Amino acid sequence: MIQIAIMGFGTVGGGVAEVLSRNGMQIAQKLGEEVSLKTILVRHFKDGPYRPRMTDDFARIENDPDLSVVVETIGGVDAAYEYTRRALEAGKHVVTANKQLVAERGAELLKLAKEKNVNYLFEASVGGGIPILRPLCQCMAANQIEEVYGILNGTTNYILTRMVRTGAFFTDALREAQAKGYAEADPTADIEGIDAGRKTCILADLAFGQQVLPESVPMEGISRLSLRDVKVAERAGYRIKLLGRAMRLPDGSRTAYVAPHLIPEDAPIATVEDVFNAIVVKGNATGEVMFYGRGAGALPTASAVVADVIDALQHREKRKEIGWSDNSAGFVGPETLPM
Ligand code: NDP
Ligand code: HSE
Repeated sequence: MIQIAIMGFGTVGGGVAEVLSRNGMQIAQKLGEEVSLKTILVRHFKDGPYRPRMTDDFARIENDPDLSVVVETIGGVDAAYEYTRRALEAGKHVVTANKQLVAERGAELLKLAKEKNVNYLFEASVGGGIPILRPLCQCMAANQIEEVYGILNGTTNYILTRMVRTGAFFTDALREAQAKGYAEADPTADIEGIDAGRKTCILADLAFGQQVLPESVPMEGISRLSLRDVKVAERAGYRIKLLGRAMRLPDGSRTAYVAPHLIPEDAPIATVEDVFNAIVVKGNATGEVMFYGRGAGALPTASAVVADVIDALQHREKRKEIGWSDNSAGFVGPETLPM
C-alpha cells in the first residue's frame, strides 16, 4: 500500500481525493499497489468522511516516513513554498497544481528535487485537465519550439462566453465562474491576466528550457472590457479571447505577453468556449499542434494531479527529468514583438 498526503483541501484537493477514491482500482492496476490517502493538511477543519485524516500540523507529513508523495493544492507562494521545500528536503515527491509557485520558484524547487533525487511534477499547473506539459517536453522533444500560445484561463473564457452568448454582465459571469470552482481564491489574478501570465511563463520555461519570470511578462486581462466591446466585436465577425503567447524571435531571443485579442469567428481558437482552454504549440518539424479541453474545475484538474502522482510513483527510483534551467539570458521585453 502506497500512502500519500494532500496539502490544501479546497476545490482541487477535494477533487484529488474523489479521483483517488473513484478510480482507485484502475490506479492500483497501473501501479501494482493501492494508493491510500493517509493525511490531509488543512487550515480549518471540515466535517465529513475525510475529517479523521485531517491535521493542521505540517510536521505530521514532513516526519512521516510512510508518506512518499505529497500533493500541494494550497495555492499561492508563502505556505505552499515552505511546505513544498520541506517536503522535498525530507525526500518526498511533490505534485502540484500551483502555477504561481511553479512560475515564481519552479527553477529553485526543481533544483532541490534533483539534489534529493525526487520528483517535482506540475502538469495540472497549465490547462487544468489538458495534457500539455508532457506532450510539449516529451512528444515534441525532437522540435525546436518556435511559439506557444492559447487560451490559458478558464474563468475569463467562461466570462467572455457568457457575455457573448447570453448578454451576461461581467460581474455576474465572474460570480458564476467562482461558484463553479474555476476562479482563483483572489479572482484578480484571473481577470487581470496574471494567472494566464503565470501559465505562459511555465510554457515558455519548458519550450525554451530557460527561466521566464512573471515580472518580465506584460499582462493585460479582460477587466476593462465591457459588454458593448464584446457585442461590437461579435457583430463585426470576431470573438475577443484572452491569449497568452511566448515566442522565439528571428534573432534567437524570446519574448512573451498576455492580452485580449480579436479573433476571426471561424478561427479554431475562436470556437473555444466556456471553461475550455486551447493551447497551440508550433514546432519547427510538426508545425502547429493544438491541445483542447477543460482548463479548470475540480475533477479535470485532479485528473492531471493524480496522473502526476502515478508518474512520480512509477519514477521512484529514476526520477523524471522535466524542467528548465534558472538562466534567463536571451529573454527580451515586448517592445521587440513583431506586430
Ligand atoms: P481553494 O481555495 O479551493 O483551495 C485551497 C485550500 O487550501 C483551501 O481549502 C484553503 O483552506 C487551504 N489552505 C490555504 N492555506 C493553507 C495552509 N497554510 N495550510 C493548509 N491548507 C491551506 O483553491 P483551489 O483548490 O481552486 O486551488 C488550489 C491550487 O490549484 C491553486 O494553486 C490554484 O491556482 C490551482 N488550480 C486550481 C484550479 C481550479 O480549477 N480551481 C485548476 C488548476 C490549478 P481554507 O478553506 O481555510 O481557505
Ligand atoms: N483560475 C484558473 C482558471 C484555474 O480559471 O483557469 C485553472 O488554472
